[in-house]
Amino acid sequence: MAGYRSQWRPRGVYLNTASYGLPPESAWNALQQALEGWRAGGTSWEPWGAATEGARTAFAALVGVESEEVAIGSTVSGLLGPVAASLPDGSRVLVPDEEFTSNLWPYLVQGNRGVRVRTVPAAQLADAIDGNSDVVAFSAVQSATGEVADLHAIEASARHHGALTIVDATQACGWLPLDASCFDFVVCAAYKWLMSPRGSAFLTVRPERLGSVRPTTAGWYAGENVHSSYYGMPLRLARSTRRLDTSPAWFSWVGTQPAIELVNRIGVPAIQRHNVELANTFRSGLGMDPGNSAIVPAEVPGAAAKLEGTGILASTRAGKLRTAWHVYNTRDDVALTLKALL
Ligand SMILES: Cc1ncc(COP(=O)(O)O)c(C=O)c1O
Repeated sequence: MAGYRSQWRPRGVYLNTASYGLPPESAWNALQQALEGWRAGGTSWEPWGAATEGARTAFAALVGVESEEVAIGSTVSGLLGPVAASLPDGSRVLVPDEEFTSNLWPYLVQGNRGVRVRTVPAAQLADAIDGNSDVVAFSAVQSATGEVADLHAIEASARHHGALTIVDATQACGWLPLDASCFDFVVCAAYKWLMSPRGSAFLTVRPERLGSVRPTTAGWYAGENVHSSYYGMPLRLARSTRRLDTSPAWFSWVGTQPAIELVNRIGVPAIQRHNVELANTFRSGLGMDPGNSAIVPAEVPGAAAKLEGTGILASTRAGKLRTAWHVYNTRDDVALTLKALL
């Protein structure tokens, strides 16, 4: 990881990637150039649009699917809305009980059609899937606790019971290897572990599921040919998953392409080793058993006050200190944080 360290410029010790990730130089520079072009009116928008397609290709490679199987949008909840709205009336959805609401409320708002949500502790999800589960929707890594889902067990149990799988990989992609082809839908916002600006997100769709989703957000960017989709009749949707695209927030995508390409160059397994090793060194310093996550929730009395003014930035979730360890963190960061807390 040391060879890449010059890509980031944290001011202090940044342990808050579970909230937002820091941009690599390549992403920052691309964004500054685009902003200059915007201020001066020096370019048409097409190069910003091209970054969207570059980011789609890079994300597809990251999660092991074809780029035609990836839709782009701005938020997790925005991409899941049409998926939830397309579930049959009366669908029964199983969700972990601390799930981030962007992968919960899209189903709850379908309650008027009889869509019902049942929640269980995340660790019991695979066992809780049964003949009454039409859909299982869960995060690959839980936002508040860092708990890593048993992806294989959940996938196998869902397949056995014929349940659709909807995975929120926002806290996973960028450090946890994930094969999106194993699931019906995988959604991911890029502004955390993929170190991109807020405003870019992806949805992969298993090809045989595409026909069941009504593209309720369709506009020109969901067209088969976006440049001949600006005006008028008839509806001419893309045949591929791009029919679920929403118009790209240009500047977000300009920063997203280089950031994901860098993640792919470094390699997710290498990032996972680095992140989990730092997380476990930190856990050990606090007297905790080793774990398998880059996110560490810890019960440290007065943690927020102890970190105040130290230049160490973490967050508090569910009453615990939440630290998140990523590519730009070092062993020195672990030592400084332990020193401040203990
Ligand atoms: C697991 C998870 N999903 C999604 C999001 C963000 O969702 P949205 O893009 O709908 O704001 C977060 C933000 O913290 C998250 O932790």
